[in-house]
Amino acid sequence: MSLPASDRTKQPDNRTTMELGAVLPRTAEVRDDHLFIGGVDMVDLAHELGTALYVFDEEDLVSRMRAYVTEFRSRYENSDIIYASKAFLNKEVLRIAAREGLCLDVSGGGELACAQMVGFPMERVFVHGNNKTPQELEEAISAGVGRIVVDSRIELARVSKIAGELGVTQDICMRITPGVEADTHEYIRTGCEDSKFGFTMLEDFAYTCVGTALETPNVRLVGLHCHIGSQIFALHSFAEAAQVMVDFMARIRDGYGHTIEELDLGGGLGIAYTTADKPSSIAEFAEVTCSSVREACAAHDLPLPRLLVEPGRSLVANAGVTLYTVGILKTLPNIRKYVAIDGGMSDNIRTALYHAEYEPTIANKAGQPRTEIVTLCGKHCESGDAVVIDMPLQKADIGDIVCVFGTGAYNMTMASNYNGQPRPAVVFVKDGEARITTRPETYDDLYARDI
Ligand code: LLP
Repeated sequence: MSLPASDRTKQPDNRTTMELGAVLPRTAEVRDDHLFIGGVDMVDLAHELGTALYVFDEEDLVSRMRAYVTEFRSRYENSDIIYASKAFLNKEVLRIAAREGLCLDVSGGGELACAQMVGFPMERVFVHGNNKTPQELEEAISAGVGRIVVDSRIELARVSKIAGELGVTQDICMRITPGVEADTHEYIRTGCEDSKFGFTMLEDFAYTCVGTALETPNVRLVGLHCHIGSQIFALHSFAEAAQVMVDFMARIRDGYGHTIEELDLGGGLGIAYTTADKPSSIAEFAEVTCSSVREACAAHDLPLPRLLVEPGRSLVANAGVTLYTVGILKTLPNIRKYVAIDGGMSDNIRTALYHAEYEPTIANKAGQPRTEIVTLCGKHCESGDAVVIDMPLQKADIGDIVCVFGTGAYNMTMASNYNGQPRPAVVFVKDGEARITTRPETYDDLYARDI
């Protein structure tokens, strides 16, 4: 795979770092041409700890967690925020999430193990996945997780059997595919039915399976769940999903005489990766979801369920940045300017995978305008290995420290060891202090499993 052809009409924006707005972590500032985050000089940090390096602005992270809790609870008392740990996971972020009173979405045994290691309250854990293995289910049920979000009829039977063997009754939610296509102005109801996730509503399958769940021993059907997608800008998609789900709850009450106590509307709120992105705020998201559920419940004369949402990206993406060192410069006249950095698709697969866009700056030239259009390519043996394609940057020199913004979600957790690349350390910065929360991977780590 190679890069898309360079857009030669693209002009540098001449912006300086602080003009990048919502893309920046909350505490970003420029002092003497250097980028500071959490009161820490990113240039010094890169020199001290080496690059590539993931850096998180702890104040940014915590303030978003608090904003979620406050914006929801102030509108809807019986609500909870579930942190989707697939977005970014290490022990420290889970300790913070636990302290801030969040619940946790884990999507595999490895994510659950991390939660157990830090003593995350198991009753606040929601276990997701379309094919949780029997072993993962047993681990989760014996750990005492709050909810298993059951994804299929086959899994329902599996959960029942395992819970029975362990002598417990497991609280479950059922994941429903509401047939809402996210982030588009057209509601194409069938567009999203082709999904490996959840119970389809087509041909009344989900409704029939609710009946099965209610008769299944060793499980208690507590809630319904849906997740309509990720990086969603159009809030009306959430309103639509809420409506479909509450209608379904009413039907369950009318048909089976059973009250659904919890409604989990999943994650998906979009964030600003570039200055062109205009995402909705957490408050706007809370307003739309809370009022939609309230209104739909009123229309059906249903008691308000406990309301849950599962943000990942909108909690952590803008809190995180990645630092790199420039190693090679290559200009192909009338084709492209390559600035090669000491990372790439191993620490950020999103650009190669989704042609994701990011805003970069040079941390040691942060007060200067971005006067060039460059491609930040990685060090891997693949032509499509780039972190930033055709974006403005200050004129780069070898040894410069590049900072790519908005890399806090789905970068670290999707990292690989391609070309034997050790994965970067994770550093949290706050009040002028930096602390390593995940140490860098070593060459020994890379082959520790080999015989
Ligand atoms: N809940 C469930 C059941 C999910 O599957 C996801 C994300 C979330 C919550 C959190 O969604 P968020 O708030 O982060 O949008 N690797 C892709 C994103 C995949 C999202 C997977 N599910 C990326 O890098 O853009």
